[in-house]
Amino acid sequence: MVALPWLRWYKRERRELPWRKTKDPYPIWISEIMLQQTRVAAAIPYYERFLERFPNVEALAAAAEEEVLAQWSGLGYYSRARNLLRAARLIVQSGGFPRDYDSIRTLPGVGDYTAAAIASIAFGLPRAALDGNVIRVLARLLDERGDIGSAKTRKRLAQAAERLLDRKRPGEFNQALMELGATICLPREPQCPRCPFAAMCQARRSGVERQLPVKRRAVQWVRVAKTLLVIRKGDRILLRQRDAASSQMAGFWELPEAELLPRAVLGERLATVAHTITNHRYRLSIVSATLRRVPRGFSWIEKEELSRIPLSTASRKALASPHFSPATCCGAR
Ligand code: ADE
Repeated sequence: MVALPWLRWYKRERRELPWRKTKDPYPIWISEIMLQQTRVAAAIPYYERFLERFPNVEALAAAAEEEVLAQWSGLGYYSRARNLLRAARLIVQSGGFPRDYDSIRTLPGVGDYTAAAIASIAFGLPRAALDGNVIRVLARLLDERGDIGSAKTRKRLAQAAERLLDRKRPGEFNQALMELGATICLPREPQCPRCPFAAMCQARRSGVERQLPVKRRAVQWVRVAKTLLVIRKGDRILLRQRDAASSQMAGFWELPEAELLPRAVLGERLATVAHTITNHRYRLSIVSATLRRVPRGFSWIEKEELSRIPLSTASRKALASPHFSPATCCGAR
């Protein structure tokens, strides 16, 4: 019989997510890397496709970087995919997936949170995993009023999490807190009557649950407007590949920016796409255009090719917009 209210709640209410069906560290690792910057619903189809293509760490280690990036294409934050590949090669070289926290933590792309999540979920090691959702849950449970952007508050919350952690079921405990943060202890509208911790939640007792957590430093958004051109020739479309030495999105393909093609003749606006990268908010006007002579550095790419090359997320969004014909040109990702 399950006595603990959080565990009973988790067993009853948890979402059946594909990575929750296994204890194999490889798929758990892939899921945690995807979930670092991607919401659960968006990550699921990528996770399934990725594991179909790379079913184990050996298959991933043997892959070309281009192909891993193509599979990741649309998820953004591509250093995650590059680090996955580097880590897979290290894992294969060292003879298998590391089984203790410190070794997991040394893998490229794995920070404190991800190492704790993998160690606890795959190996049952008693490590508390604090991501943004869990920090919110803990700040409310403990009525923590310090700025969660400050190292001091973070440390206090991490120590509290280690104290609260269920050492017999650390993986379930961590995932229960993640689940609470994702489904009940919501940022603006916490669903306290449905919360298994409501009776012990100190913020609720003080009536401040909606004011917590305190986050002082607001993001300074940089807003950028750009025009991307859709130039077609039959079933082909004009793209540009970013320089291999570029500091961002090296090797990725993208729609040309209007300012790179001053001789292009602009036609109708096909769509407007919003895209965010770190603190940059892009507003992209997607405009059809024609061009007599294609300068160097641009290539005609067949539409069928688009799902096989690493395409920037902004261009993928632009080409998937309903105004672009055919709408499914580059896979419904
Ligand atoms: N976010 C990060 N890791 C997660 C997990 N294992 N389950 C649900 N959401 C998560």
